Amino acid sequence: MAIILDGKKLRDKLLADLKLRVEKLSTKPTLAVVLVGEDPASKIYVNNKKKAAENIGINSIIINLPSFTGETELIQKIEELNNDPQVTAILVQLPLPKHINKNNIINSINPKKDADGFTTANFGLLFSGQKPYVYPCTPKGILLLLDEYEINLEGKHVVIIGRSNIVGRPLSQMILDRNATVTICHSRTQNLAGITKTADVLISAVGEKIIEENMLKSDCIVVDVGIFKDETGKTRGDVDFENVSKIASYITPVPGGVGPMTITSLMLNTVELYNMQHCD
Ligand code: GUN
Repeated sequence: MAIILDGKKLRDKLLADLKLRVEKLSTKPTLAVVLVGEDPASKIYVNNKKKAAENIGINSIIINLPSFTGETELIQKIEELNNDPQVTAILVQLPLPKHINKNNIINSINPKKDADGFTTANFGLLFSGQKPYVYPCTPKGILLLLDEYEINLEGKHVVIIGRSNIVGRPLSQMILDRNATVTICHSRTQNLAGITKTADVLISAVGEKIIEENMLKSDCIVVDVGIFKDETGKTRGDVDFENVSKIASYITPVPGGVGPMTITSLMLNTVELYNMQHCD
């Protein structure tokens, strides 16, 4: 049976430690979260971020704008946050309504306040082998979790399924920096199972039930980033946990694996940006 990569346990440990660090700061970091529209899942995510921040003494500001908000208006709001010395970190919750160009919005965030590390400036640093101001939250959380269990990626074949800017793309670079051999698979990949069978580490970020035990070699390390409700309303991930956990060496549960680590990384990023802004 696989060892469970317990994201909740690590979250509790890292956030308890971060809380102590925040208590020692002379002023409190402030995380501003911008939510455009009424997407129910986004509302829950934003609320969870607010709760996590409050629990460790980080101020949070939630800016909820109507779904018809225009791009110019949204950029003006972000400019205000960029120019507000009280605001440490800015996050625009994705997805945005279709009439808004996501890249224009993300790139209006000052890279030194970019809580997600999604601006082209931060991506450029990451993709050119330099250190971004902060690393994107989900990839960072995954690596923190693997580190906690002393899983060394050097020389391993890591197969990532999903090429989003939120997970797959930045994660591929971060894993390459750990000297792994990285393969990125996506919706047009042919013979997916043929590739996943060669994985020492499989990271799936699709949001669909796609990974069965016959697609993996035994002792594979399995990280499930997917989270959705199945036909019965049960929260589950991309991986058939019950069967895959019988052959894998390590596996993340859903919920309780990667999800708590994403929020933890956001809190860490906020404090890292605060320290950077207050170091001189
Ligand atoms: N929507 C889903 N995941 C994320 C994330 O990590 N950051 C932002 N801003 N939006 C998201």
